[in-house]
Amino acid sequence: MSGFRGAVTVDGPSGTGKSSVARGVAARLGAAYLDTGAMYRAATIAVLDAGVDPEDAAAVARVVAAARIEIGTEPGTERVEVDGTDVAVRIRGADATRWVSAVSAVPAVRRQLVEQQRALVAGRDAVVVEGRDIGTVVLPDATLKIYLTAAPEIRAQRRARQLGLTDAAEIDALAADLRRRDEYDSSRADSPLRPAEDAVVVDTSELSRTAVIDRIVALADSTVAAGGRA
Ligand code: DC
Repeated sequence: MSGFRGAVTVDGPSGTGKSSVARGVAARLGAAYLDTGAMYRAATIAVLDAGVDPEDAAAVARVVAAARIEIGTEPGTERVEVDGTDVAVRIRGADATRWVSAVSAVPAVRRQLVEQQRALVAGRDAVVVEGRDIGTVVLPDATLKIYLTAAPEIRAQRRARQLGLTDAAEIDALAADLRRRDEYDSSRADSPLRPAEDAVVVDTSELSRTAVIDRIVALADSTVAAGGRA
């Protein structure tokens, strides 16, 4: 077991292997794990189920404010609920994926979920938090900040493999969707996707999942040697 104490943030676009790396790092460090993307996806399910237009920011803010979004923090299991209903499978579906950028761009939604994220992290000895704005906005004083990148074509291939797609046209459509979401997430006014100034940027294009995890665990362990949390 590692002696790591503090928070590791793992940010970056989709298709960089972020979730599986962040879970793996949490397991190796004996840390809690928080997937903030799952929270924005759960908020999107609440919006879709309420039947409001996901691009109507005021309606989105109202629905999400009234929704009870619950998320587990065990690296080995995924628990995501909206108002007591298990949505762990639905949050990965095409509808949630299509609308999550619009919902997560609404400032009131971000304020609400960021507050919830900070409360979930508070008082933990060790935690790995994954998202887009964790190092920049949610936990600016984190012990170790990681920003994962990968070449766009590699990211599309990884996503295709996860979804079991082999058709070239479907893979092209997926690459286009990744570009659309990156563009949306990086250019939104509130908390755009970008590396924190003090983040370690890791390009995962040529690295195995295990190699990326090893690298991050070594960096986390070096913060222990250097005297603990920032
Ligand atoms: O990591 P993911 O694909 O599950 O994230 C889903 C969406 O949520 C993504 O398009 C951007 C948004 N998101 C965000 O805005 N801020 C975060 N901290 C995490 C995710």
